[in-house]
Amino acid sequence: MRPRVWNTNRNHTSRRASSYRKKTIYKSVCLSFVLVIMVTVLQRGMTPSHFMPGQQQKELHQEPVKAQKRDGIFSKTGHFWKSKMEKTHLEAEGVTENQVKSWDVTTINCTANQNMSKMDWFKGLEPNFQQFLLYRHCRYFPMLINHPEKCRGDIYLLIVVKSIITQHDRREAIRRTWGQEKEVDGKKIKTLFLLGTASKEEERANYQKLLDYENHIYGDILQWNFLDSFFNLTLKEVHFLKWLNIYCDSVRYIFKGDDDVFVSPSNILEFLENKKEGDLFVGDVLYKARPIRKKENKYYIPSALYNKNNYPPYAGGGGFLMDGPLAIKLHKASETLELYPIDDVFLGMCLEVLKVEPVRHEGFKTFGIVKNKNSKMNKEPCFYRYMMVVHKLLPLELLQMWSLVHSNLTCSRKLNVL
Ligand SMILES: *[C@@H]1O[C@H](CO)[C@@H](O)[C@H](O)[C@H]1NC(C)=O
Ligand SMILES: *[C@@H]1O[C@H](CO)[C@@H](O)[C@H](O)[C@H]1NC(C)=O
Ligand SMILES: *[C@@H]1O[C@H](CO)[C@@H](O)[C@H](O)[C@H]1NC(C)=O
Ligand SMILES: *[C@@H]1O[C@H](CO)[C@@H](O)[C@H](O)[C@H]1NC(C)=O
Repeated sequence: MRPRVWNTNRNHTSRRASSYRKKTIYKSVCLSFVLVIMVTVLQRGMTPSHFMPGQQQKELHQEPVKAQKRDGIFSKTGHFWKSKMEKTHLEAEGVTENQVKSWDVTTINCTANQNMSKMDWFKGLEPNFQQFLLYRHCRYFPMLINHPEKCRGDIYLLIVVKSIITQHDRREAIRRTWGQEKEVDGKKIKTLFLLGTASKEEERANYQKLLDYENHIYGDILQWNFLDSFFNLTLKEVHFLKWLNIYCDSVRYIFKGDDDVFVSPSNILEFLENKKEGDLFVGDVLYKARPIRKKENKYYIPSALYNKNNYPPYAGGGGFLMDGPLAIKLHKASETLELYPIDDVFLGMCLEVLKVEPVRHEGFKTFGIVKNKNSKMNKEPCFYRYMMVVHKLLPLELLQMWSLVHSNLTCSRKLNVL
């Protein structure tokens, strides 16, 4: 669809933007300052509880919930703020016998697949790709931070965001914009960030402490004990699906996306209102995409790994929307397949197993609004107002765009995408 020219109330909006920017910069400076102090203090061996007033301190020495057995690398993670009440409530909750009640992977027991190094095609691959193949059969890792309570009650929309430990500013911006947890007309919206561990070993311990503290404040982090790397994104996908199957199997809808996108939850809710029951899976869908065979490319796939000419239809991982019940079926489907190095293609493969076609929708722009990156259209608030997802905005841009879109913006025409 080709958007027309818009009449924006520019003077009004740009003034707002500049005062907003000052405020945001001021806030960022303050936040950074607080974080620096925290690192310093934490390095001297204090726990985050020293910053916490009364109540949380009491809860600090609770043993972690069963599922979150640590395996040594990190000191005290997560959970210490959870109340006893919550815990007993959890255990009392009726779960049917055969079903796994909690995260059942508590140790890493996985060795490299030496069969691989015998293959000729394996030898020419870049080291990260080789690493992926050597550990491709290692399916699940222990949880470091969990929130079994997140889905208690009827959740209408669960927003899950792929993030990495160092991008706390992105998570902060999301919490203040499209990731706000709230209830709209009785429909509960909850948010979770999905993380692995810091990829640089020397930074891991300190970042982990910061993350624990962040989670202490917001309670919206899920973390597993695998390295957050490009080739481990599919691991994140299967871990989330397994988690959902255990802790959140009655959620109505799930939005899953990256941490550098603009999302409009209100447009998503409006879109969902007119949906009938069924295997909804909607996003920026690619049909008949071809595997990339150029070795230098980030998405390179040797034909020994995938020899068909086309991928099944799949939605760009930047942001898509799916039915909760479908996600549970996707978990089962995912376990019938070997891990694939590209996470969104992998999910397309799972959909293919279920014979569910993902649906393309104009409101999802995960590959940018227009191809030309420098086009003004990519920064046009009137365009964002009628979208569900737009790639790609950094924290400051997201905060600005959010306030513009939610200001008294005058747009010439309503784009009929919903
Ligand atoms: C790891 O797996 C191997 C083979 O599957 C088994 O022999 C070994 O006992 C396991 N180790 C642990 C610590 O679970
Ligand atoms: C390696 O090859 C052997 C024999 O073909 C097979 O039994 C084994 O499962 C393979 N190992 C892995 C990790 O795939
Ligand atoms: C994925 O994570 C595992 C566990 O941390 C790690 O051993 C492996 O090297 C990672 N794979 C890649 C390709 O980064
Ligand atoms: C938008 O306009 C309405 C009425 O014209 C006014 O009441 C409201 O305060 C305005 N909101 C903002 C954010 O400027």
